[in-house]
Amino acid sequence: MKISIRQAAFSDAELLATIGAQAFADTFASDNTPENMAIYLAEAFSLEQISGEVAAAANLFLIAEIDGQPAGYAKLVTGAAPEMVKAKNAVELERIYALKTWIGQGVGAALMQSCLEEARGKGHDAIWLGVWERNTRAIAFYEKWGFAKAGTKVFQLGDDPQTDFVMVRSLV
Ligand SMILES: CC(C)(COP(=O)(O)OP(=O)(O)OC[C@H]1O[C@@H](n2cnc3c(N)ncnc32)[C@H](O)[C@@H]1OP(=O)(O)O)[C@@H](O)C(=O)NCCC(=O)NCCS
Repeated sequence: MKISIRQAAFSDAELLATIGAQAFADTFASDNTPENMAIYLAEAFSLEQISGEVAAAANLFLIAEIDGQPAGYAKLVTGAAPEMVKAKNAVELERIYALKTWIGQGVGAALMQSCLEEARGKGHDAIWLGVWERNTRAIAFYEKWGFAKAGTKVFQLGDDPQTDFVMVRSLV
């Protein structure tokens, strides 16, 4: 099975909105209210929202494909990091999703490898992310990739203020 990674183009916005909403719903719907999921999905994964994100220079989307079909994606964001991220020029891994049928088969690893290469190539000295404290599978995956917990931050899902672990990995 060959997993290929490519940088998203503006014409991928609709695809990213669709698979982003799908992956988010598959992962989190069972642990949250339908109302909170609907609010978040509508604001975070509308075509308008994702089109703007793909166009913004601060963002880099990477799409994983298997036999030409989308299998997941990742999003890197250059910008301010929480104060517990002790780095001069950190980049955020804001999203990394394998689609449900492909979980546990290396899509996440291929995306993470590309994200680390991109981040190093752009001169970032650290990579950080926020992950829901209850998302044990993702936390195990990040720890395997060298991320360590540095603190917590709030993630607002509809009317529910959730606790995310902030995890950081040095790139130097
Ligand atoms: C987290 C995620 C991106 C990892 O990608 P993946 O393609 O599933 O992971 P890979 O196949 O490359 O690597 C497998 C590793 O992930 C973790 N993992 C994946 N599937 C797992 C499962 N069913 N149970 C436990 N751990 C699992 C383990 O750490 C595993 O390590 P191992 O290979 O030593 O067992 C993916 O599981 C995913 O998209 N999950 C749903 C969305 C999500 O939670 N995203 C992160 C939001 S912060």
